[in-house]
Amino acid sequence: MDIYGNRIFTKRLQLRKPEKEDIELLFTWSHSPEAYGKYLSPERLKLEHLQDQLASGALWNDREKLFLVELRDTGKPIGTTHYWQPPGNNETVVISLKIALPAERNKGYGTELQKFLIIQLFSHKKIKNIEMYTDINNNGQQRCLRKLGFELAKSLTYEDQQVQRTGHLFRLTAERYNSEPIYHYHYE
Ligand SMILES: CC(C)(COP(=O)(O)OP(=O)(O)OC[C@H]1O[C@@H](n2cnc3c(N)ncnc32)[C@H](O)[C@@H]1OP(=O)(O)O)[C@@H](O)C(=O)NCCC(=O)NCCS
Repeated sequence: MDIYGNRIFTKRLQLRKPEKEDIELLFTWSHSPEAYGKYLSPERLKLEHLQDQLASGALWNDREKLFLVELRDTGKPIGTTHYWQPPGNNETVVISLKIALPAERNKGYGTELQKFLIIQLFSHKKIKNIEMYTDINNNGQQRCLRKLGFELAKSLTYEDQQVQRTGHLFRLTAERYNSEPIYHYHYE
């Protein structure tokens, strides 16, 4: 299924466009420190803002998409992932994600969803890089990124909802994507 449809399937997950019925859940997660974990700050979005963003297509267009992530077998929503192209930059896509239910972390879902989203992005967009920011102490995410072939581009301080964080910018180039076995051989 390609990214211009409304869904991406992985072995165990479905990534899909959020609908009106999902706004309540997105709103609840947006205010929940547990959903963001220790290394991300809750965005605390206003309900009306979320409704407007979904209705206007601000979160689902050619340059940007927010997916709800669900387990395929039960349909249970477990998190979100978001990608966007920074303004004025057609060569780069930035991704963020959260497995919002702590009990569903460390089961390989984070790695699986990033892998398949990355395959879709490099297959369908003329981009040269995918980038991700992580807090310097987010060892779980950094482990995922290394498995996915990302390299440390630079360390920096950045602002995350008014919290100053020290973090790393990781980058996966198209060249590295093409030579990284994890994207081209599916052992699972
Ligand atoms: C970070 C996150 C996306 C990772 O997804 P996940 O499904 O939990 O991760 P996975 O199970 O795919 O893989 C995690 C890997 O990190 C390892 N890991 C987990 N916690 C770790 C820690 N504290 N130190 C070192 N390694 C750790 C796991 O052992 C696993 O590696 P392995 O497969 O070699 O055993 C998820 O935990 C999450 O959403 N956290 C909250 C929000 C967040 O931090 N988002 C990322 C922002 S950049």
